[in-house]
Amino acid sequence: MDLPSFIWLWRMAAWSMGFALSAYFLLGISGGWLLSRRLLKDRQPPWVRSLHIVTGITLVTLVLLLLSIGIVGTLGEYGSLGHSPHLIAGITVVLLVALSAWSGSRIHPTRPWARPLHWSVNGTLGLGFAIVTLTGWQVVQKYLPVS
Ligand code: HEM
Ligand code: HEM
Repeated sequence: MDLPSFIWLWRMAAWSMGFALSAYFLLGISGGWLLSRRLLKDRQPPWVRSLHIVTGITLVTLVLLLLSIGIVGTLGEYGSLGHSPHLIAGITVVLLVALSAWSGSRIHPTRPWARPLHWSVNGTLGLGFAIVTLTGWQVVQKYLPVS
């Protein structure tokens, strides 16, 4: 690959991944806050829920961006997709994030299944992020000069 002409693309990917992981941790913290206040029947400052939702929308945007960068970069290099397990890992993470956002938006007293679904999807998503980072790191090795 003509690495220098593509380097800005991978640099953008690295930053997006950094922000996506930060968003995931922030969602864990703000979600945990929502959960603990609810269990303690304490008053909920309204901005925590807003922060959780805005961070959630940011995460959705970032993984869609990462998906497009991955697809565009791989097509630019090979003209085709599916060169490593990273493709499956990437698509799985995007689907899990979508499922997480959807299940979060379903949380309501009349839908008791939504909360446990939101929790378990988010737990699985943590594993998904770990796998996508590992498999992504493996494909990065192909492009690094052998020293
Ligand atoms: C992907 C985007 C996400 C969206 C749009 C989203 C949205 C929501 C919404 C609307 C609620 C309900 C708030 C309420 O009215 O009580 C909620 C609750 C919660 N979310 Fe998320 N969320 C997202 C991701 C995450 C992630 C990644 C985590 C954890 C790592 C998480 C953990 C939680 C927890 C623990 C709760 C509290 C549930 C409870 O009260 O038992 N969320 N989320
Ligand atoms: C949520 C995060 C991510 C998503 C959704 C994602 C998605 C994708 C997709 C769909 C491809 C095309 C793969 C193929 O067709 O074989 C790809 C390629 C690639 N991704 Fe990711 N990716 C993510 C994170 C990462 C990370 C963290 C790294 C680096 C550590 C990385 C490095 C790469 C590289 C180097 C390629 C080129 C593949 C190759 O040459 O075989 N990605 N990505």
